[in-house]
Amino acid sequence: MKALVLAGGSGSRMRPFTHSFAKQLVPVANKPVLFYGLEAIRDAGIHEVGIVVGATAREIRDAVGDGSRFGLKVTYLRQDAPRGLAHAVLIAREYLGDDDFVMYLGDNFIMGGIEDFVDRFRRDRPHAQILLTEVPDPRPFGVAELGSGGRVVGLEEKPERPKSDLILVGVYLFGPAVHEAVAGLRPSRRGELEITDAVQRLIDRGRRVESTRLSGYWKDTGNVDDMLEVNRLVLETLEPSAEAGEVDGTGELIGRVVLGAGARVLGSRVVGPVVIGPGSVVRDSYVGPFTSIDRDCTVTGSEIEHSIVLRGARIDGVGRIRSSLIGREARVVPAPRVPNTHRLLLGDHSSVQISR
Ligand code: DAU
Repeated sequence: MKALVLAGGSGSRMRPFTHSFAKQLVPVANKPVLFYGLEAIRDAGIHEVGIVVGATAREIRDAVGDGSRFGLKVTYLRQDAPRGLAHAVLIAREYLGDDDFVMYLGDNFIMGGIEDFVDRFRRDRPHAQILLTEVPDPRPFGVAELGSGGRVVGLEEKPERPKSDLILVGVYLFGPAVHEAVAGLRPSRRGELEITDAVQRLIDRGRRVESTRLSGYWKDTGNVDDMLEVNRLVLETLEPSAEAGEVDGTGELIGRVVLGAGARVLGSRVVGPVVIGPGSVVRDSYVGPFTSIDRDCTVTGSEIEHSIVLRGARIDGVGRIRSSLIGREARVVPAPRVPNTHRLLLGDHSSVQISR
């Protein structure tokens, strides 16, 4: 069995971050969201992984490499443009051969892995197996309609009037029959080759399509609030460990706190769950619950909580920051006292909330 991981796409809902890097690499508790997926695949006993990459191919390659550190053998498959999830299967045809495979969307986060789901497929060998969960608003997702006996009878991608509140989670299991279903698909209203249409074809042709309900937590990390939520949940599961870092006499760690190698907490109060990456320095500051600070950051004379700070950022003397995502090498510093103005250098599609 192989895995096909989708790490192309455009990431328009995560701008401005996705102007400069792949949305699948936004860190959750200082680890790219994509890595949780790769680990889940490995833990399900799958070792050959094809990663579909697009415009951000280079960064994904730099981050994942040949996969050996995850215990995986990774092959990169280039997609010329984000033409849809079924298009990704189409371009992976040669790589996949006639093997069964799990298709995993690289921006999906699933707590507790996919082992049970994969085991069930290995046991029952249907033509396709999809994973469903209930959401309050199904419209931005693929929606499943179940018939009598709980069989999937219909699937619709991002319908205006959903027929149920059961949506497709971004993990699918396929046997080789999916290739016939993908061949000859026409682009949908939004111009993509939809995997939901391919699965619908399998159903229409009388192939066996099974579904499993997801019991645990899942998130499509499409926007900043979703990222903060996933970050919060992952931080809650961390085992505290501060030995690799340094806390001075006036520094204080409370609750679940992880300090990376050489991280320093000086004259500061850190209330977990918090992770502070290698080489980062927190000085004369407060770092509150649900905050991930990546490597080589400095936080000085400031307060921050419920936030994700990417590597190399500097936050200096700015009062309290909350529910924020701060990019790589970003600078957050006070403006001069006179004149009393805000001075901003914001990338395209940035968003700033200024307190008055
Ligand atoms: O998250 C679950 C949902 O994922 C499902 O409910 C939907 O049925 C499914 O279509 C998909 O919807 P999204 O709109 O969230 O898909 P998105 O465009 O965000 O793409 C998902 C991942 O696949 C993302 O990591 C980018 C990657 N991708 C996407 C496209 C369209 C590719 O690698 N190539 C592509 O052509």
